[in-house]
Amino acid sequence: MIQTRLTSVSSIIADIIITKNLMLIHSASQLLTLAGKPQSGSQLGQLGIIPNGSVLIRDEKIIDVGETDEMAEKYPGEKQLSANNCVVMPGLIDPHTHLVWAGDRAAEFEMRLEGKSYMDIMAAGGGIQSTVNATRSANYSSLFAQSEQHALDMFYQGTTTAEAKSGYGLEISTELKQLKVLLNLNKKGPLEIFPTFLGAHAVPNEYKSRPDIYVNLVCDEMLLALINWWDKNTHERPLPFVDVFCEKGAFNLAQTRRILESAKQLGFPLKIHADEFENLGGAAIAAKLDAVSADHLVKTSTEDIKILAASNTVAVSLPCTPFGLAESEYSPAKAMIEAGCVFALASDLNPGTAWCGNMQFAMALACRFMGLTPAQSIAASTINAAAAIGQHENIGSIEPGKQADLIILSVNDYRQIPYRFGTNLVATIIKKGKKYALRSLC
Ligand code: NIG
Ligand code: FE
Repeated sequence: MIQTRLTSVSSIIADIIITKNLMLIHSASQLLTLAGKPQSGSQLGQLGIIPNGSVLIRDEKIIDVGETDEMAEKYPGEKQLSANNCVVMPGLIDPHTHLVWAGDRAAEFEMRLEGKSYMDIMAAGGGIQSTVNATRSANYSSLFAQSEQHALDMFYQGTTTAEAKSGYGLEISTELKQLKVLLNLNKKGPLEIFPTFLGAHAVPNEYKSRPDIYVNLVCDEMLLALINWWDKNTHERPLPFVDVFCEKGAFNLAQTRRILESAKQLGFPLKIHADEFENLGGAAIAAKLDAVSADHLVKTSTEDIKILAASNTVAVSLPCTPFGLAESEYSPAKAMIEAGCVFALASDLNPGTAWCGNMQFAMALACRFMGLTPAQSIAASTINAAAAIGQHENIGSIEPGKQADLIILSVNDYRQIPYRFGTNLVATIIKKGKKYALRSLC
């Protein structure tokens, strides 16, 4: 099945046109620039719209932005691409995914529909551990093939950059196998990937009765092995993020703090899974340790929201997860925005809670179940999502000097994006200046 789907994708890839030198993308009904800094609190939703907009790109970079008549006069004779009166906006950014795994958990989905909870299934040895078993036994090439399919699915739904985690190894060799898949996927493209080490995703079965020994192993051996491996394999790329699942049944607050403090001391940037099912205090620890983001945040208290708002830590909400678990409680997004948090959205793509890497769907859910406006959902999936992976200086908006990562959607008003759901509205993707045409415009 994977083979057939890959073949159809490769016929789309055959459409790639490499833009040489300059290209003017013009006649956008609305060019959503999202210009400026990440948007905190009530500033969220400033789209910086240029009606009848144009953007000039050269190779991988954005050179100029403006109104179409002016830009056409300023840059006569450049290669042109008409947006055909459709919306042009920055490529979507997904700052929380688990895109490398083997197997599936369809049987657990059915168990949940029959009344078992996600954490019950995990406590009984299923859940994350069942994907760990499958990922440990998968060979590198089959793991790469399955993961590439997830990455391509995300890309063709408009995500031009994503964070992606290990966490289905829970032993160093398999964790590194996952990270190797991520580095090679990033090299192959077109999806750009920023990796995260999530060795503390769950306590593996072999350490079930000795969780603190596993925590010692993560802090004293795995992080060091990771640094050595990273130096050898990545030619001085910045270190990956380190993340911990801080939750009853996974890692408690003391264990989480220990792992994050060890990682910080070694120079890793931090992330956390906090308050997904219960509030153990993970969001506050993330803020205290200056984590780049705190993610999930369903059970986050008013006090912790204030702490996040006063910190540099981006609050990342993952609405596909409660949806995937058929739960009715979502992140208290309005309270977070009112308190002044930098609020971002992500998909959480994973085989357990949310096999969905579609940011268009995350936006649709955020508007319906967390009260975001369409404009807020777009800012949370672009400039603020870029901040959630520390990349807002380079991506997340359409401004001169930034990477040429854009999407053209087959709609002429931005409100259509979260209003419609269940079909892919992306018509054309420009990633680092390369054009990928998927369907006709508007
Ligand atoms: O973000 N909560 C922890 N991790 C994932 C689920 C992973 C899984 O169930 O495989 C999440 O929801
Ligand atoms: Fe997650």
